[in-house]
Amino acid sequence: MSTLTTDVLVIGSGPAGASAALALATHGVDHIVITKYRWTANTPRAHITNQRTVEILRDLGIEDDVRAQGTPQDLMGDTVFCTSLTGDEIGRVRTWGTHPARRADYTLASPSSNCDLPQTLLEPILVGHAAERGSRVRFDTEYLGLEQDDEGVTVTVRDRLSGHTYPIRAKYVIGADGGRSQVAKDVGLPFEGQMDLAGSMNIVFHADLSRLVEHRPSVLYWVLQPGSDIGGIGMGLVRMVRPWDEWLIVWGYDISGPPPAVDDAMATKIVHDLIGDDTIPVTIRSTSLWGNNKMYATRYRAGRVFCAGDAVHRHPPSNGLGSNTSIQDSYNLAWKLAMVLSGAAGPGLLDSYDAERAPVGKQIVLRANKSIEEFGPIFEALGFTESDDPAEKVANMRARTENTAKAADQRVALRKALELKDYEFNAHGVELGQRYRSGAVIGDGTPEPEYTRDPELYYHPTTWPGARLPHCWLGHGGQKVSTHDLAGKGRFALFTGISGEEWVAAAEIAAKQLDIEIAAFVIGAGRDHIDLYDDWARLREVEESGCVLVRPDAHVGWRALTLPNDPAGDLTAALAALLDRP
Ligand code: FDA
Repeated sequence: MSTLTTDVLVIGSGPAGASAALALATHGVDHIVITKYRWTANTPRAHITNQRTVEILRDLGIEDDVRAQGTPQDLMGDTVFCTSLTGDEIGRVRTWGTHPARRADYTLASPSSNCDLPQTLLEPILVGHAAERGSRVRFDTEYLGLEQDDEGVTVTVRDRLSGHTYPIRAKYVIGADGGRSQVAKDVGLPFEGQMDLAGSMNIVFHADLSRLVEHRPSVLYWVLQPGSDIGGIGMGLVRMVRPWDEWLIVWGYDISGPPPAVDDAMATKIVHDLIGDDTIPVTIRSTSLWGNNKMYATRYRAGRVFCAGDAVHRHPPSNGLGSNTSIQDSYNLAWKLAMVLSGAAGPGLLDSYDAERAPVGKQIVLRANKSIEEFGPIFEALGFTESDDPAEKVANMRARTENTAKAADQRVALRKALELKDYEFNAHGVELGQRYRSGAVIGDGTPEPEYTRDPELYYHPTTWPGARLPHCWLGHGGQKVSTHDLAGKGRFALFTGISGEEWVAAAEIAAKQLDIEIAAFVIGAGRDHIDLYDDWARLREVEESGCVLVRPDAHVGWRALTLPNDPAGDLTAALAALLDRP
C-alpha cells in the first residue's frame, strides 16, 4: 500500500488546527487534518472572540456565520460581582469595550466587533468551511509519533475505529494538539513556567436564568462565596453559554488534594449555591476538571514541525485569550507555508513564525496569570483575607455597607480593585497591539512609536513595520470598505495616495519580477477608493507620496515615507528580503 502524502499535516481540530485548516484550504494548500475524537469540542470552553479574531474570520470569509451564531457585544458587558445571582450585588464593571468611554476605541479600531461564541459552535463553523474548501479531515485519528528528515516528516497515526496504524508523509506538520501536546514534547520544544498551578471544575447546565440577568446582560457573573478564593480562576463564575438558558459554572478546588468526584448532586448544589435559589430547575449536562497553567514555549518550531495554540501557550481563561491567540498563530503561519510551498518565498520566511508569535504567547500567558492575581485586591477589600472562618468572611464583606470609617476605606479599596480588572476585561492593547519583529518585517529606520496611553489597555494604531494595519473606512463604489477589506486574501496589498500613483506601476513590476500577487490601491479624491473622512491620511504616518506595504496577514511588512527615485527597485528589494528570495 502506498503511503498517504500531503504538503501539510495538521494535528488537531481545535481553534488552532481548525483555523489552520481553513486558512490553508483558502490559500489552496494541499493538506490533511487528523484529530483524535469523533467530532469537535464537546464542551463550550472558549467564548470571548476578540476583534482581531473576528477580523481574521472576516478575511477568511466566515464573519457572517460567526456573527449569526454569536452573542453580540451589546449583550456581553454588564459584568456583575455578587454574592449569588439572587444575592447582594457587590459591584459592576463594563467589560469587553462596552463602557461608553471605551466603545469609541473599539469602534474606531476595527471593522469587526467582538462577540461571544462558544467553542462548541465555533469549531464546527471552522471545520465545515475548511472541509468545503478542500481540507481532508480525518476524525477518530490519533497522532502517535513522528520522524523528520531534510525532505519531510513521517507521522504515525492510528485509526481509533479499526485500530489500524499507518504513516502519513508531509512536507510540513502543524502540531495543534492542545495543552498536553505530544507533538511539542516529541520535537523537544523548550518551555518556561509551570502546569497545574490551581484546579478548576466546569459544570455545564441548562436553566432559565433570564429573570435574574435580563436587567444586567453579561457573559460573566462573578460570585464571591467563601471557598471562591480556593484554587480555580480566582472566583466562582457563572458564564453564559447561550442567552439565557445554557450556562457554565467554573468553581475552584484544591489541586494539592485528590481530585473531587463531581456527581450530579454535587454539581446541582454548586449551581444552586451560585444562583442563590434552589427552586430553579437545573439540568446538569456535563462536568469536567482542568488545571490552570502558566507555561509558554520559547520556540514554536523544530525543523519542519510547527506548533500552534495551547500546544505552545497554556494559561487560565482570564482575558479570553486562548482560542483567540491560537487562531492568530495559525493565521500567521498559514500564508507563510502557502508561499514557501508555492515557491513565492524561500524557507527563511518560516523563521519569522516563532520570532513573531513566541513573544505574543509569553505576553498572553503572563497577562492571563496576572489577571488571576488581580482578584487579590477584591478579596482584600472585602475582608476575605482577614480570616479563614467562612462566617467571618461573609460578615466582613457585609461590613462594607456600614457607616464607619473602616467601611468607607473598604468601599474605596473595592472601587480601585474593580478598576484594576480593566486589565482583564478591557485590555484592548493586548488584543490588537501586537508589533512583530522578524525577518519578515523590513524596518524603515524610524524608531518604534511611543505609547501615549497604557499599552495593555489601549490599542495604538501605527503603520510602523510589524504592526497590525490600522483600520479606517474608505469609500468604494458607494459603499464603505475597511482598509482591512483591501488587505488579506492571501496576497500583499500596497496603499498609497494620489501623489504616490507611481507605486502602482512599481507594484506591477515587483509582482512580475517575484511572481507574486500585489494589490495596489491609490486612496484619494476621485479614485476607486476615497478617503471618506480623511482618516487614512491621519493614520498612514507616511507622506501622501509614500506607501504602506501590507502582508497577507494584515500586518505592515514595509513602508516608504515618500516616493523614492526608484520605487520599483525599493519595493522589490523589500519584498525579496521579506520573502527570503535571492
Ligand atoms: P484544543 O485543546 O482546543 O484542541 C486540541 C485538538 O487536538 C483537539 O481537536 C484534540 O482532539 C486534538 N488532539 C489532541 N491530542 C491529539 C492526538 N494525539 N492526536 C490527534 N489529535 C489530538 N479562550 C479564548 O480565546 N476565549 C475565551 O473566552 C476562553 N474561555 C475559556 C474558558 C474555559 C473554562 C477554558 C477551560 C478555556 C477557555 N479558553 C478561552 C481557552 C481555549 O479553550 C483554548 O485556548 C483553546 O481551546 C486552544 O485551542 P487549541 O486548538 O490550541 O487546543
